[in-house]
Amino acid sequence: KLIKSAIKTRVLTAFPNLPQNNFEIQLETISNNLNYEYKTPTVIRIFNQFKKQNLFGDLKSEVEVAQKIASTECQDNVIQKVEAIEKGYLTIQLNNQFIEDEINAILINGLKFPLEKKQKVVVDFSSPNIAKEMHVGHLRSTILGESLCRILEFQGQEVVRVNHIGDWGTQFGMLINHLLEEYPDYQTNRPALKELEDLYKEAKKKFDSNEEFKVKSQQYVVKLQALDPVCIDAWKMICELSRQEYNKIYQRLNVKITEYGESYYNPILPEIVKECEAKGIVELDKGAKIIRVKGEKEVPLMIVKSDGGYNYDTTDMAAAKTRILEWKCDRLLYLTDVGQSSHFKLIFEGAKLMGWHQPPITSMEHMGFGLVLGPDGKKFKTRSGDTVKLIDLLDQAKERALKQIKQRVQENQQGKEFATGTALSPEEFDTAAERMGIAAIKYYDLKQSRISDYNFDYDKMLDPKGNTAVYLMYSYVRMLSILRKSGIQDFEVYKTENKFKITHPHERHLATQLLRFVDVLQSVTDQLAINWLCDYIYDICVKIAEAYNQYRILNDEHTQTRLLLCEAIRMVLLQSFYLVGIEPIEKI
Ligand code: ARG
Repeated sequence: KLIKSAIKTRVLTAFPNLPQNNFEIQLETISNNLNYEYKTPTVIRIFNQFKKQNLFGDLKSEVEVAQKIASTECQDNVIQKVEAIEKGYLTIQLNNQFIEDEINAILINGLKFPLEKKQKVVVDFSSPNIAKEMHVGHLRSTILGESLCRILEFQGQEVVRVNHIGDWGTQFGMLINHLLEEYPDYQTNRPALKELEDLYKEAKKKFDSNEEFKVKSQQYVVKLQALDPVCIDAWKMICELSRQEYNKIYQRLNVKITEYGESYYNPILPEIVKECEAKGIVELDKGAKIIRVKGEKEVPLMIVKSDGGYNYDTTDMAAAKTRILEWKCDRLLYLTDVGQSSHFKLIFEGAKLMGWHQPPITSMEHMGFGLVLGPDGKKFKTRSGDTVKLIDLLDQAKERALKQIKQRVQENQQGKEFATGTALSPEEFDTAAERMGIAAIKYYDLKQSRISDYNFDYDKMLDPKGNTAVYLMYSYVRMLSILRKSGIQDFEVYKTENKFKITHPHERHLATQLLRFVDVLQSVTDQLAINWLCDYIYDICVKIAEAYNQYRILNDEHTQTRLLLCEAIRMVLLQSFYLVGIEPIEKI
């Protein structure tokens, strides 16, 4: 913001006749240059926009205009220097004093996000289906969703974390039937199912092979719809068993989410359908009630099936209305794999036709993501061909992380480069391995560009030298160890008594990187691209390593300012870690 307005002032000083409300400054970051932090293509744009109006005198090209802006004297305390480079681009060097003030403000006040307008945001994520195993697709939705919520919350938005679980529908007929047949005393004697999925598999088997079972199951569906108490009880038990399974995953991943499953909307489905009919947008199609949203050829929304039942579309229409009109949410985000993008397009259009969704006042966005594939790039299966259990994945990751940490400790004892010389107790080993394993999985997922598929590969996600949680966590440990070795007892006091002052180009470079934190988070939630935050954290860690090679921190005449910079980096890293779900390790 400050930077943009400082540039605008410069442009207007050079060309006072430009209509100042008719153009905006675009900023691009430069991250690999020690002297310049930003560049802007704005001159090119305004040159083309205003050249016909003769606002540039006898200057004939964008390059000349850029040169004139660069050479115009203009004093402010944000920008040190502006230079015209090729094609009319301007590069911008920030003022040292500005950078120092900003870093000192972070040190004293902590990291703050300047929120322009508070919104109420629904994040619909994770959302597994009852009685079916949560699969890697749900894992991805869970990881992305939790991180997105944390980022929005940090920005100061009001976030509603919604688990739209599949807890209603025809599959419950056979599940209830099976439960009542096999576990008639389920209320006193809880079914000891090894895997919840077995209930589903067994029920399905009977359903497909046994005509009598099938008919009875269909009757149970009707009874359940009519809220028959026996059916409702059985249904509750099945949901409860599922809930226990996926709560284990949420606990391990540190995920907070509230259930508003499909059943939550069940009571209002009939009125939703009536409302759509009253609006005159419903057509009959072979007995089904449909809403056409975009031309003939596209698949329509189906809000009542030909057998009179409701479905996924009906529920999502009801959910959209509830979230917008009742909960008064401004922004609705849905996280599922990209395979469901046409479903959501229909829902968004349908909600618009109904007048619930009124862009740009409300926003409905599908944050679709690619598939998680096996290490070989094929469908993710165990060696025996079964689907992979999420709990097993987490355990595997932990086990491998433990190996990784042990190896690291051994290297430390041999006095290798990164030695920080601290011993771990067995419990500390265990905690460290759990944190690292989980972080490795989460971060590897988050750093992918969301739409693409990726291969689930332990070796890659635990590589201590790549863009991985492991690398970041070790950087952090090293940073802590430097701060510890400084002997300073209380950084809170130290921060108030000392001031950060730039004494080295690499300090400056790192400091400006820290100042981008807010902008990065803004683009992450604008574009729903959490991978940019990952790249940002990784870039800081790479730059720390570069800086270590350039200057000494301890026992140097500039130790004081460098420790303050370390502290500011630590703060940004710790906050960023939280946002991507990494629980750091304090020592190794
Ligand atoms: N239960 C669905 C599935 O597993 C995901 C639900 C996503 N949310 C929604 N409002 N449709 O595919």
